[in-house]
Amino acid sequence: MFNRRDFIRTGSALGAFTSIPTLESWGDTLLPSLEGPSHHAISLDQHWTVARISKSTPHQQSHQEGQLPQVTLPHCVSQLSWQKWDPSSWEDLWLYRRPLQIPQEFRGLRLFLHFDRVMVNATAAVNGHSLPQHLGGFLPFEHEITSLVTGASNSLSVTVDSRWSNVPPSGSPKGPASVDYLLPGGINGSVELRAVPPIFIKDVFAKPVNVLSADRRLEINCNVDSAIAKSTPVRLVATLQKDKQIIARTSRSVDVAQNRQDVSLVLGDLKDVILWDTENPHLYDLTVTLFVRKQPLHAYKVRVGFRDARFELDGFFLNGKRLQLFGLNRHELFPYVGFSAPDRAQRHDAEYLRRQLNCNIVRCSHYPQSKAFFNACDELGLMVWEEIPGWQYIGDKSWQDVALQNVGDMVRRDRNHPSIVIWGVRINESPNDPELYRQTREIAKSLDGSRPTSGTMTPSSRKDWRQNWHQDVFAFDDYHAAADGSVGIDEPLPGVPYMIAETVGQYSYGTARNFLRRYRRAGDPVEQAEQAVLHAEAHSRAATNQRCCGVIAWCAFDYASLMNAYAGVKCPGIVDTFRIPKLGASFYLAQVNPSVRPVIEPSFYWNFGSNTPTGPGKHAAIFSNCDYLEVFIDGRLHERLKADKDAFPNLKYPPFFIDLNIDGASKPELRIDGYTGNTKALSRSFSSDTASDRLWLHADDMEIQADGTDATRVAFAVVDKFGTPRAYAKGEIHLQLTGPGIIVGDNPFSLDDTGGVGAIWIKSIPGSPGRITLSASHSTLGTNSVNISSR
Ligand code: GAL
Repeated sequence: MFNRRDFIRTGSALGAFTSIPTLESWGDTLLPSLEGPSHHAISLDQHWTVARISKSTPHQQSHQEGQLPQVTLPHCVSQLSWQKWDPSSWEDLWLYRRPLQIPQEFRGLRLFLHFDRVMVNATAAVNGHSLPQHLGGFLPFEHEITSLVTGASNSLSVTVDSRWSNVPPSGSPKGPASVDYLLPGGINGSVELRAVPPIFIKDVFAKPVNVLSADRRLEINCNVDSAIAKSTPVRLVATLQKDKQIIARTSRSVDVAQNRQDVSLVLGDLKDVILWDTENPHLYDLTVTLFVRKQPLHAYKVRVGFRDARFELDGFFLNGKRLQLFGLNRHELFPYVGFSAPDRAQRHDAEYLRRQLNCNIVRCSHYPQSKAFFNACDELGLMVWEEIPGWQYIGDKSWQDVALQNVGDMVRRDRNHPSIVIWGVRINESPNDPELYRQTREIAKSLDGSRPTSGTMTPSSRKDWRQNWHQDVFAFDDYHAAADGSVGIDEPLPGVPYMIAETVGQYSYGTARNFLRRYRRAGDPVEQAEQAVLHAEAHSRAATNQRCCGVIAWCAFDYASLMNAYAGVKCPGIVDTFRIPKLGASFYLAQVNPSVRPVIEPSFYWNFGSNTPTGPGKHAAIFSNCDYLEVFIDGRLHERLKADKDAFPNLKYPPFFIDLNIDGASKPELRIDGYTGNTKALSRSFSSDTASDRLWLHADDMEIQADGTDATRVAFAVVDKFGTPRAYAKGEIHLQLTGPGIIVGDNPFSLDDTGGVGAIWIKSIPGSPGRITLSASHSTLGTNSVNISSR
């Protein structure tokens, strides 16, 4: 029998208990919700105020306090535009505060504060009692606060230090310009109050083993945390389900000592499970329930996908079949909010990469990204390379300690995602540090023996990688030109699984051999037209040698940067920062079976202005998955085209090239018909007459949640009469919103620097549902509007 004394925790490590959990408090009402890791959780995302503290005196601070507006998480401390971010706008100390109410039903339970992520260092305090500082953005942390709460009403504060500090990726004495991406601060993830019984399941790792054979199994490691002074008999029951159907179940009884301990279970007899793969990302639900004396006290639920992913000497294999890796690097930074975009926006990125850009893998460069992104990758069949924060710089011992901590926190957080197939455990493009990288690898392997480790390497590392190099996969950032100035792809190194983790980027192929390109829609049209062709060359050439597992090119989306950037936005993306495709995307958009959707994407602007007086030029590329194309100018057949299989032998859908060096004085119309077999699969038209241009406005979602966090993107563009964005369109967009929402973004919005497109996000107001209307007006093109509802 338990008695009250059993729950009095002793020992300084656990601290003193002000409220002692009792057996009675584990009543039926506290049965597991079966959603996520905690018994009960409440969101603390709303009702925060935030003040910049180091720049204001204490007097000013208290004066301001009553006037501070409430903010909702995720939140960025700076009001940002889409460009020209200034690190001094966030590099400071910020004080977030909110009340902390403890619901009646949490009485007698252990209480934890859970932070998804805070950029960059965070000190939380409950009722003025400071908790240990957490160092480094990107990864979750938790504090037990059971002994700190007093009654129902408490206060919570978080001091966020978003200055440049000695944690990865920052730390270099050269400051923010020394890292390729900017790091705006704030509480950029969710905060939760979690309530659990005195014994609870802290973590579950479910590792599929022997996946390709009929006797596959699921090895389950449960970390159980007990605050009970004496050893307690518990039973753990693991149930694997597909929707409501139980696939397998097992249980184990153990005595759990005070503090933490691991308990392992094995689920066998899984011969009928369907494997997870990129085309059919089949997922199962695993629930582990902890019973004490037949009473279910706590449950922990994770999703499981059974797949076998291997990087071998002769390529990458998914479930035993060779699969060419086809992907892009992704920075998570969004316009206006940096790393504080809502889950919906994160998921849209994954959907865009998988469904529109047809990638089968994404590299999360150069840090762990949002949970919502990984959940979407699992559901979409988008494989992932995840890596620790860092960029070229390795700091001192305390910096390295944070890097080591990051490896453990990353692997623990994300090892249940079937989409993740490899861990990056080296600082991106850093010099070799044998001792540091021996340790990072060891931590990853000890927490997850099922995935290979890697880290991206530069040309100098190709020579001496065999000495003191301990990763499983050699991932090369291949930026060099071939002798003829086209995209150079080095031969895979012998004796090691090999892949390309970056290529193309802003590299100037041809003669310059530097990172000088700017793929801006408002920039040089000739450079822009070449971007897709360079990406096509890289993927085709890398596929010549089957030893190369494939290519993850640089990169998906433009991002905020002070390095080789234009007005603070680096533009190697094939999609811009607003998530609007550039010409560079045309190659990726076309790499899909025409039975899914026929695609015709010219890699040029149909424009005859001062930038391109004679049109797209002599060697204009069109990307399409059709068998052949017929190109018409003003209704007259100009040319019938076949794809250039000779120059791009290893692409499923190589580009078509055409001479379109023509006189555009008559403002001709272009039509491209695409045929598969003898059937016309698609016809697209393009107008060069700007007189018929119009304003296009599009909301990604018809509905958002009225929680003050959720937001949907509204994109706008000047388009020709057939709907294609008009390059170099200018003017201002004035936005007007009615209803319970706010505009996150620039208003008015100048089209001049974006080249005629843009986007803002509409964010809900907590607890205010209703219909939201956004109208956008352009000085010469009139007004357009969209409606969404907030529920
Ligand atoms: C690479 C680097 C990337 C990005 C890219 C620029 O060397 O790893 O983060 O900076 O260059 O094109």
